[in-house]
Formats: sequence, structure tokens, C-alpha cells
Amino acid sequence: MAKAPTSEFAMLIAQLSDIHLDGVSSLQRLDRVLQWVAELRPDAVAVSGDLANNAHVANYAVLKARLEALGAPLLVVPGNVDSREAMREVFGGPAQGPLNRVIEVSGIRLIGLDVIVPGAVHGDATPVVGWLEAALNSGGAPALLFLHQHPFDSGMDQYETIDCRNKEGLAAVIEAAKDTVLGISCGHLHRPMFTRFAGVPASLAPAVAPMGGLAADGRKMPASDPPGLLVHHLKGGHLVTHLISIGG
Ligand SMILES: [Fe+2]
Repeated sequence: MAKAPTSEFAMLIAQLSDIHLDGVSSLQRLDRVLQWVAELRPDAVAVSGDLANNAHVANYAVLKARLEALGAPLLVVPGNVDSREAMREVFGGPAQGPLNRVIEVSGIRLIGLDVIVPGAVHGDATPVVGWLEAALNSGGAPALLFLHQHPFDSGMDQYETIDCRNKEGLAAVIEAAKDTVLGISCGHLHRPMFTRFAGVPASLAPAVAPMGGLAADGRKMPASDPPGLLVHHLKGGHLVTHLISIGG
């Protein structure tokens, strides 16, 4: 069983998502968000997919320089608009296969799960649940999981076909790891959400790119949110997730 962090332990993880770099306006939105993050001085930065729409190698190089300038350990996972191979080239990672990553920061593991299905909008956990099971069973530190497509039911019917498939398999691995997993967070829908999955807190980060509207229970509202991010605050083994909107 994983060791719980000590009561003195505290860290802040900034999670950006769905940057969709695609020219000047997307870069301006990103820079407004990064200015806020730089002032925060987070202990780690996670990016949960959809980094760039096109010109992948060039855009990833631009993004990498900006993210590394924050001076914090960095975890990136691909989303459906990303190129796994271009991300591998720019950000590194396993020589082949899914870009699953683990970084350990101050006694917490940040685990990036690459659930993308190249050429598809939905994701699939099936190819990576074995890898995750091995990582969680290795007796390491408590973990926060990051992936792109939502593994939970968003309640927004039009998005349920573009979710992460094999939720059951992913949930079984997380549940078997008991209290090793502190939480799971994704992106993809450009709309912040908070729920539970496999018995742990689950969140969906807002986008840096334009947000999506709310559609629930037959009612629809247009998006009115500025870009934003999540800040995960871990203190004494307790996770509090903050939603930050970058207005103005
Ligand atoms: Fe996406």
C-alpha cells in the first residue's frame, strides 16, 4: 500500500488543457494563462492533451519553450488532435507505443496515460490499462492520473461517443490500487467538470482554447467562460482542486 504524504507535505500542480495552438490568437490566449501560472510558481505542470492543431513539431517546440520557462517539472499527454510521433520527437518519452509517462515530484507521482486512438476523436484505455496496473502495483508513491478523453459519464449526451472507452477496465485497475490513486483529471470537452470515477475525485480541466457550452438534461447554454486551468492542491494527502478563469 502506498505511503500517505506527511501532514507537512503540500504542493500545487497547474493543469492546462486543450491549448489547440493554431496561430496568433491561440498563442495570445496561452500566454495570458501562462503569465498567471508563472506568478503562481507551481511545483509541477501537467498538460492534458490537444496541444496543437497542426504544424505539430513547430508548435510543440514553441509550447515546450514556454512551458519549460516556468521552471517546474512537466508532464504532457496527447489528445485527439495531437501527433503522438511529433510529441515524442519534441517532448521525449517511450521510444515507441503510447506516450505514457510518470514523473515524481515531492513524493507524489504524476502519471500521464496516453489513451488516444490515432485518427479517432474518442479514446480507449484498453491498450494502456496493463501498463497502469503495473505502475500502480509497483509500490510507489501516491499518484494523480492525467489523460485526455473523459473516462466518466459527462451527462452531456452529444459527447458520450467521444469519451475514453473501456472505462470499466480503467476503473478496475484504479479500484484495485486502493488509496494509491488520489485523483484523476482529463480535458477534451472544453468545459470544467467535477465528479467521481472509480471511487476517486475526477475532474475535467477548462480549455485554454475557446470553451464549449453547457448541455445537460435537455437544456443548452452557450459558453460564456474565458480560458482557464485547474490547480490541484495536495496537502497532507488531501486533494483540493481549484478552477481558475483567466479573464480580462
Ligand atoms: Fe480533444
